[in-house]
Amino acid sequence: MMQKNQPDVPAAGRVSWNGSALLAPVPPVLVTCCADGRVNVLTVGWTGICATHPPMTYISVRPSRFSYDMIRKTGEFVINLTTTAMVKAVDFCGVRSGRDTDKLAVCGLHTLPAEHGDVPVLAEAPVSLLCKVRQIIPLGSHDMFLAEITGTSVDGRYLDSKGRLNLQQSGLLAYAHGEYFALGRKCGEFGYSVRKKPKQKGSARFSK
Ligand SMILES: Cc1cc2nc3c(=O)[nH]c(=O)nc-3n(C[C@H](O)[C@H](O)[C@H](O)COP(=O)(O)O)c2cc1C
Repeated sequence: MMQKNQPDVPAAGRVSWNGSALLAPVPPVLVTCCADGRVNVLTVGWTGICATHPPMTYISVRPSRFSYDMIRKTGEFVINLTTTAMVKAVDFCGVRSGRDTDKLAVCGLHTLPAEHGDVPVLAEAPVSLLCKVRQIIPLGSHDMFLAEITGTSVDGRYLDSKGRLNLQQSGLLAYAHGEYFALGRKCGEFGYSVRKKPKQKGSARFSK
């Protein structure tokens, strides 16, 4: 059995800091947006899923970003998952502004029209989430665009023969404390810790 309360563990070497945004890893996504006939893309690390039904997500964007007004105006954006093959574009789109640079052209990224909205998806992305803004929440440095995922566009290469999504081969990218990483090796899967195994004599549940 897993212990509910650990006995006192010495806090050797731990340091207390003020609250800081040190959650890691996060997915460094490429967000596409469009307004007045112009398509732009920016890198976003402050994103996540916040509900399953309806599928809800958020991106937190500084109001100073060129993309901010585009998203606010149209109420739409697309979250494009990124891979190691896209890492240079991910960084570039996060340090250059669409105000003075056509980032899609410079990075050689290709757009495809989306079925469920006006904002195009990135052809290079294994999965793209089409989002409609439901609320804008000012939080200080960033405003949070809370959005419903109204459509999903998937690269068919990552569907198996039964139509199931398998992203292991896509080389998903992670971002941790200013550095980009390829996802590491698989070390478990949902629910495996409690899955019943055929009983073997003398084996303890958490023994190797
Ligand atoms: C890895 C990474 C993550 C980033 N995450 C965010 C973010 O979550 N929110 C944000 O406002 N800017 C973020 N940025 C910065 C913007 O992507 C950057 O300012 C970009 O130039 C804005 O583009 P735009 O002016 O064309 O909208 C990030 C940059 C990088 C490199």
